[in-house]
Amino acid sequence: MLKKKDQYVVAVVGATGAVGQEMVEVLQERKFPVKELRLFASERTAGETLTFQDRSLTVQLLTKDAFTGVDIALFSAGEEVSREYAPVAVSAGAVVIDNSAEWRMKPDVPLVVPEVNPEAAFRHHGIIANPNCSTIQMVVALKPLHDAARIKRIVVSSYQSVSGTGKEAMDELIDQTRALMSFQEAVCHVYPFQIAFNLLPQIGAFDARGYSSEETKLVNETRKIMGDDRIRISATTVRVPVFRAHSESVNIETERKLSADEARALLATAPGVMVFDDPQRKVYPMPLEVAGTDEVYVGRIREDASIESGLNLWVVADNLRKGAALNAVQIAEKLIQAAS
Ligand SMILES: NC(=O)c1ccc[n+]([C@@H]2O[C@H](COP(=O)([O-])OP(=O)(O)OC[C@H]3O[C@@H](n4cnc5c(N)ncnc54)[C@H](OP(=O)(O)O)[C@@H]3O)[C@@H](O)[C@H]2O)c1
Repeated sequence: MLKKKDQYVVAVVGATGAVGQEMVEVLQERKFPVKELRLFASERTAGETLTFQDRSLTVQLLTKDAFTGVDIALFSAGEEVSREYAPVAVSAGAVVIDNSAEWRMKPDVPLVVPEVNPEAAFRHHGIIANPNCSTIQMVVALKPLHDAARIKRIVVSSYQSVSGTGKEAMDELIDQTRALMSFQEAVCHVYPFQIAFNLLPQIGAFDARGYSSEETKLVNETRKIMGDDRIRISATTVRVPVFRAHSESVNIETERKLSADEARALLATAPGVMVFDDPQRKVYPMPLEVAGTDEVYVGRIREDASIESGLNLWVVADNLRKGAALNAVQIAEKLIQAAS
């Protein structure tokens, strides 16, 4: 358990990445009680500087003795770094909040979305996992509906932005767009195919059944966070040439029938949700306007006429904020509120 203090020593591992930089911003914006902020990356970007509270901080090379005196370590440097260094940070006395997939499905590691299962955060043994970005936004939108009417089945298709792959993928979309608009060839480094002016129906590796790792994460993580293994889930995840914010078309089947109006009313008061739903006036969430915001936006709420009790929803959220950095900082806020 975290000891109560006025201010905390916080480490960000992967500070120069797409998520890490957002973490530094979110810590500042939310006035997290930071006594000292330590930033870590690999030799590629160690030595660069980032600004925090008007101070310029130098990014340090991650080493095994980086965590001495650290209270909270926010990790977003990929699975290998988390596998190797999260236990080191825990041994040094830090609580780790990890953005990678490394620890998410381990039975003794809580997988937490503060609006959905905040109590799980307090059952940690040093590591708390932050879910996958596409999972977080879906469970924030579905939890109030599940509580009211029990969701039996979810069919979700995602439209995921390139920032979900990291900063190099954002550069690739810029470079390819620039090249193609100048009648030059698009070069692919990050993705196997051109992403500019295209869609890639693959996020992660495929398993023997033909599902991608992103699709499997959506299924398993949703059940773990919602605490309900009975929910049947079918996912198709797609990378789209959008810079920021993931969109999802979500179809649910519920045990008790929910009208679209009932669903709208439940979501209007749900924590972290913004209902943006007036199609006649062309009001629905889109990635361009959701990028940079904190809420999970829900629109296009309508009854599914093909089944007895079903709804269709369109769910959009900023993957770098609620899908990653903000969710991690919100978990840290829960910990410090409960610290004794
Ligand atoms: N992007 C998203 O929307 C999102 C959402 C949820 C979860 N995540 C997860 O968050 C993690 C980071 O994602 P990202 O999108 O921020 O990737 P990214 O933009 O590629 O950034 C990766 C960061 O990790 C650092 N890093 C890499 N190898 C390292 C090493 N051996 N030692 C120390 N630092 C190292 C990089 O530093 P150098 O440049 O110096 O190597 C960089 O700061 C991944 O696990 C990802 O799955 C991402």
